[in-house]
Amino acid sequence: MDDVFVLKFGGNAIKGKEDLDRLSKEVAGLIKQGAKIIMVHGGGPEINAEMERLGLEPKKVAGVRITDDRTLEVAEKVLRQINADVVEAMRDNGITAVGLPGYHVAAFRRREPYTVVENGKEVTVDLMNVGDVTEANIEVLEDLLSNGVTPVVYPIGEDSEGRHLNINADTMAAGIAAGIRCREMIQITDVPGILLDIDDPDSLQSELTLAEVDRLIAEGTISGGMVPKVEACRKALKAGVSKVRMVNGKDKRTIVSDVMQEGVRHGTVITE
Ligand SMILES: Nc1ncnc2c1ncn2[C@@H]1O[C@H](COP(=O)(O)OP(=O)(O)OP(=O)(O)O)[C@@H](O)[C@H]1O
Ligand SMILES: [Mg+2]
Repeated sequence: MDDVFVLKFGGNAIKGKEDLDRLSKEVAGLIKQGAKIIMVHGGGPEINAEMERLGLEPKKVAGVRITDDRTLEVAEKVLRQINADVVEAMRDNGITAVGLPGYHVAAFRRREPYTVVENGKEVTVDLMNVGDVTEANIEVLEDLLSNGVTPVVYPIGEDSEGRHLNINADTMAAGIAAGIRCREMIQITDVPGILLDIDDPDSLQSELTLAEVDRLIAEGTISGGMVPKVEACRKALKAGVSKVRMVNGKDKRTIVSDVMQEGVRHGTVITE
C-alpha cells in the first residue's frame, strides 16, 4: 500500500508520557496529511526493569532476548501495559488507535536454535519462546487502515499450537512492513542511526547497502539491538519496501515528520 508507513519505536527512544505525546502529535499530523500509519513498539528497557524488580536476570544474544516461560510472562505483561499507554496517548491526540497483539495481525514460527555472529564470533543459541513472523494478516491491517483506524501492535506472537512467543519488535515491524509492502518503514531508536563508533555521533552512516551492513556485523561494529534492526531492514527491502531507515527518537526537532519529505536526510537509510 502506497500511503502506508510502518513506524517502530523502542522504550529508550520514547520514554514516558511526554515523549509519547510528542510522537502522537506528529503521527496525528501525518494522518491529517493522508498517511496511513501502523505503529509497532518494543519495550526492552521496561521489560529489563520489571525482570530486575522480580529478581530475574535479563539475557540477550545478538540483541534478542532469551525468553524462558517466566520471561515471556513478564514481557507480555509489560508490553500490554506499554501498549495501553501508547493507545491512550494517541487517542488523547485525536487518533482512532486500537491496540493489538502481534498474533492478531500475523502468523509466526518458533525460532529453532541457530548460529549468530556476536562481536565477530559465531555462537549457537536457543532463544526458547522466541519466534519470527511467517506472514502478516494483510486483510485485518488493510481493513483497519481503510476505516481510519491506526493499529498499535505489541510484539507477542503465537505458534501454530497457540503458545505465545516473544518477538523482537524490529522483527515484528519488518514482518508487517514486508507483508503490506508499505511505502516506508521507520525505526525510531535511541541512537542517530548506524554509527561506526557508538560514542561518536559524527560517525553516523547516512546511507549503507546491505553488503556494507554485512561487513559491519562481521567485524562487530554492528552489535546488540542493532543486529535485529538491520535484519528487519533486509527483510523489508527484499520484500519490496522501497525505503527503510532509522532515526533518533530523542531528536528534539521532529522524530519522523520531516524525514518523510523527499530529500530530507537524517538517520540512516539502508538500501539493497
Ligand atoms: N553500530 C551501531 N550503531 C548504533 N547503535 C548500535 C550499533 N551497534 C549496536 N548498537 C546498539 O543498538 C541499540 C539500539 O537497539 P535496542 O534494541 O537497544 O533499542 P530499540 O530496538 O530501539 O528498542 P527496543 O529493543 O525496546 O524495541 C543502540 O542503543 C546501541 O547501543
Ligand atoms: Mg531492539
